[in-house]
Amino acid sequence: MQRVLMADERKPTDGLDATTRAEYRERLRRHLQDPAFRAVAGFPVGDDEAMLAMSAPPYYTACPNPFLAEFVRRVGRPYDPDEPYYREPFAVDVSVGKTDALYRAHGYHTKVPHLAIVPSLLHYTEPGDLVLDGFCGSGMTGVAAQWCGTAPEAYRREVEAQFRAEGRPAPRWGARRAILNDLSPAATFIAANYNLPFDVDEFAQAARQLLDEVNAELGWMYETRHTDGRSGRIEYTVWSEVFTCPQCSGDVVFHDEALDEASKRVREEFPCPHCGARLTKDRLHRVLESLADSATGQMWRRVKFVPVLISYRVGPAKYEKGPDREDLDLLERIRSLSLPEEIPTSRFPIEQMSHGSRIAPKGFTHVHHFFLPRAAQALAVLWRKADAQADTRIRHMLLFFVEQAIWGMSVLNRYSTTHFSQVNLAQTGVYYVPSQSSEVSPWYILQGKLERLYSAFREVADSGSIVAITTSDCSSISIPDRCIDYIFTDPPFGENIYYADLNFLVESWHRVVTDAQPEAIVDRAKQKGLPEYQRLMQRCFEEYFRVLKPGRWLTVVFHNSRNSVWNAIQEGMLAAGFVVADVRTMDKQQGSYRQVTSTAVKQDLVISSYKPSARFEERFRLEAGTAEGAWDFVRQHLAQLKPVVLKGDVIETMAERQPYLLFDRMVAFHIQRGATVPLSAAEFYLGLRQRFVERDGMVFLPDQVPAYDAARLNASRVDQLTLFVSNEKSSLQWLRQLLDPATGGKPQTYQEIQPQFLRQLHQARHEQLPELSLMLEQNFLDDDGGRWYVPDPNQASDLERLRQGALLREFAGFVQSRGRLRQFRSEAMRAGFADAYRRGDYATIVRLAERLPESVLQEDPDLLMYYDHASLRVG
Ligand SMILES: C[S@@+](CC[C@H](N)C(=O)[O-])C[C@H]1O[C@@H](n2cnc3c(N)ncnc32)[C@H](O)[C@@H]1O
Repeated sequence: MQRVLMADERKPTDGLDATTRAEYRERLRRHLQDPAFRAVAGFPVGDDEAMLAMSAPPYYTACPNPFLAEFVRRVGRPYDPDEPYYREPFAVDVSVGKTDALYRAHGYHTKVPHLAIVPSLLHYTEPGDLVLDGFCGSGMTGVAAQWCGTAPEAYRREVEAQFRAEGRPAPRWGARRAILNDLSPAATFIAANYNLPFDVDEFAQAARQLLDEVNAELGWMYETRHTDGRSGRIEYTVWSEVFTCPQCSGDVVFHDEALDEASKRVREEFPCPHCGARLTKDRLHRVLESLADSATGQMWRRVKFVPVLISYRVGPAKYEKGPDREDLDLLERIRSLSLPEEIPTSRFPIEQMSHGSRIAPKGFTHVHHFFLPRAAQALAVLWRKADAQADTRIRHMLLFFVEQAIWGMSVLNRYSTTHFSQVNLAQTGVYYVPSQSSEVSPWYILQGKLERLYSAFREVADSGSIVAITTSDCSSISIPDRCIDYIFTDPPFGENIYYADLNFLVESWHRVVTDAQPEAIVDRAKQKGLPEYQRLMQRCFEEYFRVLKPGRWLTVVFHNSRNSVWNAIQEGMLAAGFVVADVRTMDKQQGSYRQVTSTAVKQDLVISSYKPSARFEERFRLEAGTAEGAWDFVRQHLAQLKPVVLKGDVIETMAERQPYLLFDRMVAFHIQRGATVPLSAAEFYLGLRQRFVERDGMVFLPDQVPAYDAARLNASRVDQLTLFVSNEKSSLQWLRQLLDPATGGKPQTYQEIQPQFLRQLHQARHEQLPELSLMLEQNFLDDDGGRWYVPDPNQASDLERLRQGALLREFAGFVQSRGRLRQFRSEAMRAGFADAYRRGDYATIVRLAERLPESVLQEDPDLLMYYDHASLRVG
């Protein structure tokens, strides 16, 4: 976010005088010359000059930022264990603000809008606090941090009303400080330009001048003749791939044959213009033409394109035409020009790219291959002129502006007959060279963008805040321990988007590219599976744990592509020491947040976790492995949770307060810290009831009860959780809810329960689910009328002991058996793993885990946790 300066306070916009800036540059240069500084994993690939040119030290470096510790010393507040701090978990709606002009000022492969982040910052932090995002991408967390200080009045009133309605204290406005980190220089360059101050008027003037100069130099390349002889101005030229007919081998220009003129859509089937054979795109044969590649000095074979349509203007009127002789001569003339030196000619790491197989067979292996001759000339001149600016901030902003035309002016820009504009139509998240592309002119793509950028950045007043940006692996950010007040982060989510590969195209222009080695993704081409992803994520979470102040929060937003990926994230987070306090998803229909009680959801998740307070960790170290330690954990965990969640006049059941989840959290907390779990499930449930207060199936600290009871008096009802019943564990949860009057249920007979149960059940493939009757017998009691009811705590504890015995006998059967275990009772496996872990028999866990289908292990958080820790111990 940029500060707009009044005319009388021009420059320096970053508060540094020229000498200080030069000193920082010199210091950065010296760092770059130090081999030890460059030796860290994740250090971008590029030479010193390129890295210096991209950086604006001390606030931004296109490599690990050596000035971060200084920054923290200057703007941070040291950790003070006596400073009172208390917050409850808070959910974020990541869909908010996607149309905001500032959000849209620069694209990135995925983005969380700053307006979605602002409420979280207001909730968890105070003005001046220091926030961190280690996977910052385009830097929206920084924009949000500043927005807390610059938000307009109307927005403030809106948020204040929302906070009031949710019973929260009023937000305290004022900018927060931020540290932003990403592995990719392309990302941090965007983040830096979004977040470092610049003079917006000076930028707009320079950008307009840039476009004018390019026009003066290259305008002739975009001229065409109208039917009446007047000169027209080309906005875009459509290029079509040429195939051959499999029947007669005649050339088939895809655009000419496949496009239906009337509907303006590509037809599924169309006739060959030569032999009339029925053709589809799949049946066509690809044609590779041979071209001379002046950059590599070799012959270059790539798919054949021909220009088929020119869209142009004469004055304000728009026209279309097929290219005529003059147009073709012009294109030929441009083709004969030599490749400008600004055009990167580096080869893509095709063999290590999942999308390599999409581009290499079509002949696209080097960066310059993606630009047709005219686009190459135009982009080169844009880049050259932008890069020639003397003032670093204006130069960076101009490059930030020009960068946005790189994808859009390449052959990746699809031609769409259904879009009014042909700007930025490249397929997102992938390198896909379409059969029809629009080659747009620089002014067509950039003119409107400039005006939008100008007005978006003008809106933002000076926040007085400071953001520092660094380019490094999130697992090693060079800042001191315990200095961060809050972390908001949106990590890569497994396998969907290959950021380093995608950023290669833009980074090559800067001559500084990502070191993809520590990139936290699942990518077969780079030999990174889910376990590697989990390890990389865990290291990043460990770093987060190190730098976060104790008692503070971490919000992770996660686009849930696969359950196994979510489990990997969760396991990484827990193993690093965080405690999950809330997992939610946005219910778009209801416009409210839903708790996630199983991982079988394919939506955006918001995970709120905290780093336990230093005092608690200290106590826990002394009492770890004792019952008192376990109860202490439960106490501090309950204290982190809201006493009541209200939706209108309905109370929402909180999964985190339910005994079964508290047990899971207690177990995980011990295992993650290498402590023995001191209580069995039976002892835990019994002890829980003796020590805490239960209301509506939820557990409370005594001092939380009055608030809950007061809300309960006014509430119309308590909403139960929607459970996804797929295995024995979730079946039992569901049955408890059904039979327990405390959760709105009532005792029922087998005949009554069975049909309801079958309607709920979506049995997982690997689950050998016990009969319903056995589940009832092992966990519930029946009265004289044959109605099953939830036993009282003492009886429940007896039953649980018996059940554990039965489960362990079953587990012993697994141990005795041979071969793969494709179907098994997962509760028996869990009980067996827990028991083996308690006895220190890690080898049994590892042996059995290796006999399970990999997907089961990855999708079951309990089994995964035991396996991970056991395999660490077995080595
Ligand atoms: C989901 S994107 C973040 C997008 C961001 N929230 C935004 O609004 O632009 C995830 C980012 O993580 C980065 N990344 C992947 N592995 C990383 C690592 N080990 N350390 C730091 N960043 C990493 C990727 O380069 C990518 O920019």
